[in-house]
Amino acid sequence: MFETLKPQPADKILSLMAAYREDPRADKIDLGVGVYKNPEGVTPVMRAVKAAEQQLWQEQTTKAYTGLAGDPAYADALISLIFAGSVERDHIAAVATPGGTGAVRQAFELIKLANPSVRVFVSDPTWPNHISMLKHVGLEMVPYRYFDEETCGVDVEGMLADLKGARKGDVVLLHGCCHNPTGANPNSADWKAIVAILQETGATPMIDLAYQGFGDGLEDDAAATRLIASSVPECLIAASCSKNFGVYRERAGLLMAVSQEAGQVAVTQGTLAHLNRQNFSFPPDHGARLVTMILTDDALRADWKAELEEMRSGMLKLREQLATELRRLTGSDRYAFIAQHRGMFSRLGLPPEIVERLRADHAIYMVGDSRLNIAGLNANTVPILANAIAETAG
Ligand code: LMR
Repeated sequence: MFETLKPQPADKILSLMAAYREDPRADKIDLGVGVYKNPEGVTPVMRAVKAAEQQLWQEQTTKAYTGLAGDPAYADALISLIFAGSVERDHIAAVATPGGTGAVRQAFELIKLANPSVRVFVSDPTWPNHISMLKHVGLEMVPYRYFDEETCGVDVEGMLADLKGARKGDVVLLHGCCHNPTGANPNSADWKAIVAILQETGATPMIDLAYQGFGDGLEDDAAATRLIASSVPECLIAASCSKNFGVYRERAGLLMAVSQEAGQVAVTQGTLAHLNRQNFSFPPDHGARLVTMILTDDALRADWKAELEEMRSGMLKLREQLATELRRLTGSDRYAFIAQHRGMFSRLGLPPEIVERLRADHAIYMVGDSRLNIAGLNANTVPILANAIAETAG
C-alpha cells in the first residue's frame, strides 16, 4: 500500500533549517526557525528549568500515566499565568497537549466536531502550519487582510472590514501577541475594535498564544487574550511553553476553552479529554511538570521571570540596533518598523529574489517571505545583516 503515497509538500521553515545545516560556509547566519538563541548562538536550558529538573529527578517516584487532560496543577498554573484572574477558573475547560502545535491541532478537531461547516478566518499571512493543519483537518479557511506591505504594520482597516464578514458558527484565529510571521501587532485600541466586531458577529475567537513574555512582557502580552476571553461568550486559547520556558522538545502546550456559561464547561472538558484519547491518549508530562514547579515556587518563578526578561530585552536591543544601522546605511526610515515590531519575528517586506540573494551571496538564511528571527542575531551580526540588506535591497 505504501506505493500509493505521494511526496508531501515541504514545510518551508523546516526545509530552511535543513538547507542551513548543509551550508558549509563558516560565516552563515541562521534567521530561520523560531527558536530563541543567546548572543553565543546557543538555545539555553533556562536556569529555573535546570533547577526544577534536578529537583524532579530527586523527588519523582513514578512515571505512571497522569490523566487524559494532563496534571490538573499544570492547567491551574498556566491559566493563572495567562488570565491572572480575569476569567473565573470554573469557566475554563483545559487539557495539556504536545506543545502549542498540539493545542492548535486539538482546537481544530474540537471546532470540527462542534461545527463541521465552520469557516476559520486566518490572518494573511499566518504561521504556515496553521494553514497546513486546517487543510489536513479539512476545515474551510477564509483569509483576512492583516499586513500592510507598505508600512510593514497591521492593515487595521482591512482587517476589521474582513472580520465583519464572519458570522456565528465561524472561528476567527488571532495571534495573542508577537504575530508570526510578521511581528506587527494590533495596539490596544485595535484590540477593542476587534472585540466589538466579535461581539457583533458572534464568531468564536481562537487565540494562538505562543510567545507570552517575548513582546512587551508577560502581562502586556496576555492583555488581548484577557480582554477577548472576558468579553465574548466563548473562546479558545492554544498556549505554548516552548519559547517562554525554552522547553521546545519537551512539547508543553495547553488548550483552553472559555465559556461564559459555566454549565457548558463539563461537556467541553470531557470532549477535549476524549479528543486527546483519540489522538495520542495521555499528553507528555515532563515539560508540563517543570513549568508547574517553576510557576508554583516563588524562587524558581522569580528566576525564570528574570531570565525571560533578559531574553526579551536582548531581542528589543537587537531590533533597535538593526533599525538604527539600516537608517544609517540607507539614509531612510524605511526599516524603522523593525523597532516597532514585537516578538521573535519581523517580516521585512522584501521580495523572494532578494531573500534568495541574501542566502546565496551572504549566507543569511531567512524564510522566503522575508521573515527573520531577531534572536538569531547578535551585536556583531546585526551590522553584517544590515550591510547585506542595504547592498541587496537598498
Ligand atoms: C516557527 O514559526 O519558526 C516556529 O513556530 C517553529 C515551527 O514549528 O515552525
